[in-house]
Amino acid sequence: MIDVQQLRLYKTGKVRDIYEMDNDKLVLSHSDRISAFDIVLTDEKTGKNAIPDKGSVLARLSRYFFEKAENAGIKTHFLEMPKGQENIIVVKTTDVFPVEFIMRHYLYGSYYNAFRNGQMELPPGSERVLAGKLSEPVFTPTTKAEKGEHDVLLPYFRSMEEGKEILYRIGDMLTESCDKAGMILCDFKIELGYDKDGSLIVIDELGTPDACRFWPRESYRTGQRVPSKDKQIVRDYLVDIGYKKAVDDAKSKGLQPPSPPELPSWLVEKVRETYIEIFESLTGERF
Ligand SMILES: Nc1ncnc2c1ncn2[C@@H]1O[C@H](COP(=O)(O)OP(=O)(O)O)[C@@H](O)[C@H]1O
Ligand SMILES: [Mg+2]
Repeated sequence: MIDVQQLRLYKTGKVRDIYEMDNDKLVLSHSDRISAFDIVLTDEKTGKNAIPDKGSVLARLSRYFFEKAENAGIKTHFLEMPKGQENIIVVKTTDVFPVEFIMRHYLYGSYYNAFRNGQMELPPGSERVLAGKLSEPVFTPTTKAEKGEHDVLLPYFRSMEEGKEILYRIGDMLTESCDKAGMILCDFKIELGYDKDGSLIVIDELGTPDACRFWPRESYRTGQRVPSKDKQIVRDYLVDIGYKKAVDDAKSKGLQPPSPPELPSWLVEKVRETYIEIFESLTGERF
C-alpha cells in the first residue's frame, strides 16, 4: 500500500499528480480530473466536473500497454501497480524529453487544418479529404511547453530519430490492438524520457483515450467528422455553449480564461462510460 500523503509532491500535471518514492522511482497518481483545450475543468475540492473511474481507467490502460510494450522489447518507465490501488503506477524517474511524439494515420484534427492552410504536405497517394487515409504514417512532433514556458530550442536533436523509431513500433502495437477491438487508431502521442542509464524510454501514459484518437470502425466515413471514443463530446459541448470562444477571446487579449462551466451529469456519465468501454474493448478485461 502506497500512501502518497507521506511522499514529497514532485509535480502536478493536468491529470496526474507525481510523487517522489525514492531517488529513482516516482509514483504517478491518476486523478479523475478532465481537461479540455489545455484547461483543467475539474475542481477537486468540490468534486465539480470529476469523471468517476477515469483515473483508474487511465492507470490500468497504461499499465496494460506498458507491459505489452516491454514484452515486445520496447523499454518503458513502468515498474508496478500496487495491489488494490488501481489509479497508481510506480515508474522509473526520467529526465523528460520535452517533445510530444505524435503519429498520424489519417488526415484529421490540427493536421487537417494545417493541410487546408497549405502549411503541410501529405505523403503522395494519401486521400486528400477530411479523415482521409494517409498512404503512410506521418510524424508530427510538437514541443511540450511547460506552464507559461515558451518553446525552447531543442538540445535533443540526436534523439529525434531514436524517438521516431520507438513511436513507429508503438504505432504497430496500438494499431494491432485497435484492429482486434474493431477500432481505428486515427492518431496518437507518446512521451519519452532518459532513464538513469541514459536510455530513451516511453513514459507518462500509453494507449489511453487522452493520448490517442480512437474511431469506432462502423462510424468511419471519409469527408466528414468521425466521432472519437474519448472526451471529444466534452470539447463539442464546450464549443456549443460558447465556452471555447470565450477562452479564445480571453487568450487573444492576454487575459486568464474564464472559469469552466459545470458539465451536465449526463455528459459526465457518458464520458465515464466511454472510458470504461475503451478499456474493456482494448484489453479484453472487465473493468
Ligand atoms: N517517468 C517519468 N519521469 C519524469 N516525469 C514523468 C514521467 N512520467 C510522466 N512524467 C511527467 O509527469 C506529468 C504527467 O502528468 P500530466 O497530468 O499528464 O501532465 P501534463 O499536464 O503535462 O499533461 C507530465 O508532465 C509528464 O511529462
Ligand atoms: Mg499529459
